[in-house]
Amino acid sequence: MERTLIIIKPDALQRNLVGEIVSRFERKGLKIIGMKMYELDDLKLDEHYAHHKDKPFFSNLKKFMKSSPIILMVLQGPEVIQACRLLCGSTKGVEADAGTIRGDLAMTNLNLVHASDSLKTAKKEIHLFFNEDELFDYKKIDSLMVYEEGVDS
Ligand code: PPS
Repeated sequence: MERTLIIIKPDALQRNLVGEIVSRFERKGLKIIGMKMYELDDLKLDEHYAHHKDKPFFSNLKKFMKSSPIILMVLQGPEVIQACRLLCGSTKGVEADAGTIRGDLAMTNLNLVHASDSLKTAKKEIHLFFNEDELFDYKKIDSLMVYEEGVDS
């Protein structure tokens, strides 16, 4: 089953937006299978953002991501990666569509939330932050409605 990693970034904690952001994913009907508070260090950041290590913003990005704890979440379900990317909106807050987390709540690259961008990346990112025994397998009673399970098309 498809999984994705969500990072609720330091600006969200500082701006009291954690509940608002978690609730956006919940209201969409997505299933949380793992969640924890975490403090990033250089080692994890160098791995997680390895593809950005030569970008001019890399040191600012690292400084920002270490400025407060973060919240890590793993969500699971069909097409969950695409669903989360759409919920987050484009990278820069001012350019993100209204209705998205970033479009409604952010202006800049301090954009409140990170979501994995592909299956391959999601696997790698989840493995970086979660042990398998921190991810929970349970039945969600609303999945019948959210995913039209058992409904003939
Ligand atoms: S690129 O070059 O298009 O791939 O980069 P981009 O997608 O715009 O940004 C990649 C991630 O870096 C974050 N970013 C920043 N964070 C803090 N400060 C500054 N100045 C900054 N510039 C870029 C941006 O939010 C993206 O974070 P993630 O976690 O991947 O969404």
